[in-house]
Amino acid sequence: MKEKATGTSYAKIIFFGEHSVVYGKPAVAIPLYSVDVSATLERTVIGQTIHCRYFDGPISQMNDNLQGVRVLIDRLLNLFEANELSFRLTIESKVPAERGMGSSAATAIALVRAFFNLFEKPLSRLELLTLADIEEKITHGNPSGLDAATASSEAPIWFIKNQVNEQIEFHRSNLCLVIADSGIKGKTSEAVSLVHNNLIDEPDMAMPLIDQLGQIATTARQALADSDQVTLGRLMSQSQTDLAKLGVSTKALDQFCQIAITYNALGAKLTGSGLGGCMIALAKNQRDAQIIATKLRQAGATQTWIQSFKNYEFTTGEQHDNLVK
Ligand code: MEV
Repeated sequence: MKEKATGTSYAKIIFFGEHSVVYGKPAVAIPLYSVDVSATLERTVIGQTIHCRYFDGPISQMNDNLQGVRVLIDRLLNLFEANELSFRLTIESKVPAERGMGSSAATAIALVRAFFNLFEKPLSRLELLTLADIEEKITHGNPSGLDAATASSEAPIWFIKNQVNEQIEFHRSNLCLVIADSGIKGKTSEAVSLVHNNLIDEPDMAMPLIDQLGQIATTARQALADSDQVTLGRLMSQSQTDLAKLGVSTKALDQFCQIAITYNALGAKLTGSGLGGCMIALAKNQRDAQIIATKLRQAGATQTWIQSFKNYEFTTGEQHDNLVK
């Protein structure tokens, strides 16, 4: 066993397929390299403490809203038969919480990696995602697994719940995604319940929207491989219309999408659960992206990020279930 070990992960952005992914439809999601999480475990002589933006102190005294993390730590200690281990756990996260960027999933992934790294044990991707799901189930109820799958990936992924998790072809181009935080907390479990209730109360309205969101993700996959920017933009804006009809957009997110389009974005949509959180806009190039980001901040976005399509690394069609770092 090492004296000190770190695990890392990324924020995730759902490009296409939020909500419909819960109902077995495909989704496309990307890791955001500049927005990461690290979990560092250091062995100590006494105690088990955690130091993160929400809590500083003994793990046994962690707040209820961190229950998912506490249960995951217990599970990991059991797994390594190390319940008596003394350690200090430091979690440093650049991922804004409750903004649809997968903050909790990214924390869980970094945590699992840190433990396996400390105990010098190999970790399969399946085991990583299964363990992260322990935290996600407590925090979000019935997660599709997309957040954890993306937070742990080095590449854009194509995801179908319980079936497929693979890297996809992503044409490197001048295109850029602008991500803007509305500054309003997203409410994942509330948004997921709202869509669920819509499907029960008004299936004739809601089911075709879920189907269409899934179809959009399928078309988008090809458009990403071809770098068909016009189609991509159109599909994003169509997704936003469908998600708004499902009830998960907000005035601020709608307004941000409109501003992005006014300033030359090819398309724009909310990302993640909605009811707050972030939106994304597709820009033709870095210059347009900078202008859109500035206009969104002037309109009230609390933070913006720009992710260039040039930066993505992937191996075409590689099944994404190999051993992880
Ligand atoms: C949340 O980031 C994405 C949702 O599709 C829920 C999920 O996939 O579990 C809204």
